Amino acid sequence: MDMDELFLAARKAADAAYAPYSKFRVGAALLGDDGTVYTGCNVENRSFGLAICAERSAVVSAVSRGQRSFTALAISTPDSRDPVGPCGACRQVLSEFMAPEAQVRFRGSGDKTVDITLGALLPFDSLHDLAT
Ligand code: THU
Repeated sequence: MDMDELFLAARKAADAAYAPYSKFRVGAALLGDDGTVYTGCNVENRSFGLAICAERSAVVSAVSRGQRSFTALAISTPDSRDPVGPCGACRQVLSEFMAPEAQVRFRGSGDKTVDITLGALLPFDSLHDLAT
C-alpha cells in the first residue's frame, strides 16, 4: 500500500460524507500497522458545532475495530482545489495513535499535493516529546 493507493481510498471515502450544511466533503484513510486501511468521512449535524471531521471518524472506526497504531494518513477534499490539512483538534487526536514520523498526504481536486509528517503538523506534542 503506497501513498497513492491510500489517497484513492480517502477520495472514495469522501463520497460517503454527510455534509449537507457545508457542502464540503472530506475523506480520510489511515494505514494500520497490519496493513489494513481504515476510512472515515465528515459527518455534520444541523447543530453545526457537532460536525465530526473525517480524520476523527477514521480514528474512531479503526480503534473500534481493534487497531490503535497507524503509519500513514491520506486526506481528500474534492470540493476544494487546494489541499486542506487536518484541523488542530484532529492533529491532537491523531498524535495519540501515530508517531511523529508518520506520513500524511493531503490533496484537493487540483494537482497540488502536500506530503508532510504528523510531527511537522503538530510539533512538540506532550505524548512524544516529553516522554522519558
Ligand atoms: N472537515 C474535516 O472533516 N476535516 C478537515 O480536515 C477539515 C474540515 C470538515 C468539517 C465540516 O464538516 C466541513 O469539513 C467544513 O468545515
